[in-house]
Amino acid sequence: MSLDASQLNQQRKDDHVKLALGQQKEAKAAPFDDIRFVHHSFSLMSLDQVNITSHWAGHSHVMPFYINGMTGGSKFTKQFNEKLGMVAAETGLAMASGSVSAALKDPSLSDTFRIIREVNPHGFVMANLGAHHSLENAKRAVDLLQADALQIHLNVPQEIVMPEGDRDFSNWADNIQAIVAHVGVPVIVKEVGFGMSRETMLFLKSLGVQTIDISGRGGTNFVRIENDRNPSLDFSALAGWGQTTPESLLEAQAILGDGTVTLLASGGIRQPFDILKALALGASAVGLSGKFLASVDDLGIDATVEMVYQWRDTLKQMMLMLEAPTVAALQTKDMILSGSLLEWAQLRGID
Ligand code: FNR
Repeated sequence: MSLDASQLNQQRKDDHVKLALGQQKEAKAAPFDDIRFVHHSFSLMSLDQVNITSHWAGHSHVMPFYINGMTGGSKFTKQFNEKLGMVAAETGLAMASGSVSAALKDPSLSDTFRIIREVNPHGFVMANLGAHHSLENAKRAVDLLQADALQIHLNVPQEIVMPEGDRDFSNWADNIQAIVAHVGVPVIVKEVGFGMSRETMLFLKSLGVQTIDISGRGGTNFVRIENDRNPSLDFSALAGWGQTTPESLLEAQAILGDGTVTLLASGGIRQPFDILKALALGASAVGLSGKFLASVDDLGIDATVEMVYQWRDTLKQMMLMLEAPTVAALQTKDMILSGSLLEWAQLRGID
């Protein structure tokens, strides 16, 4: 029996979740281990002075981390959106849907995304679309979820590795410019796990983009996911393509100076210590996808909510240890880079 285009799309969404869950079980290289804080023996403050509120996309968020864009578009993935949405509603975490492109093509799939808003009517919800979409589609995506912001993803390597992927990216810049100017909600332009260069970020800034999620290498790997979906492909040589999240954060130093762009970081975040380091390197907040997917799958909703509160408490304690009452204060702390991250900084002329 051959599947129609909508069924193929739904199968692809299911495969993405299953393969991403598989990747979470693997031991990985940990690019954040190349970052250390300098320890100082005084912290002349108390825990109740630590405030982890973070400000981005026109909103104050109670936590400096969020559930990043993943899924929807099939019955199987709707269950994940429901669970993740319930975690977001309970904890106050911001949450993004996966690309709503499937629902724009086949409206019978809309409920697989809308569930995120149904279970979390008052939370901060982001819709998600690829950069090949027009302003009109961007407005439809925001309407679908009654979204507070829109994520636009950049995923050239993923498209290239997919036999059915796009081969024409020539309208991306024009689309982004029009969407940022006219969609009516804050726009976050994000990668999908390949990281960003300073050249990319400067270009996004020139298009009027004010919030960028560098989403780097080190966690979920979409070259490998697409490669594993299709046994006749061999793009495994590209498995290490792209900048790690710490490398991308160093690249971002070029755009942070004048305060016009807010930086978000994601990709391979495993624990609160990684969040702390990404915030210290300039991110206003940190996104997690694979980790939350695996958590609701393995542990369920209640234990994931508990994990979020533990992470919040751990972050506050580590900020106390570093004498950092706010995320902004954390960004002034002394850090030491080593290994391949230091090499990257030297080769790219980043102080
Ligand atoms: C993703 N990601 C993603 N990103 C996006 O902008 N639109 C999307 O539709 C998807 N789909 C998707 C599905 C699944 C199952 C996963 C795990 C991830 C990418 C995601 O937002 C993030 O950029 C990367 O996953 C890197 O972060 P982690 O997973 O290492 O925390």
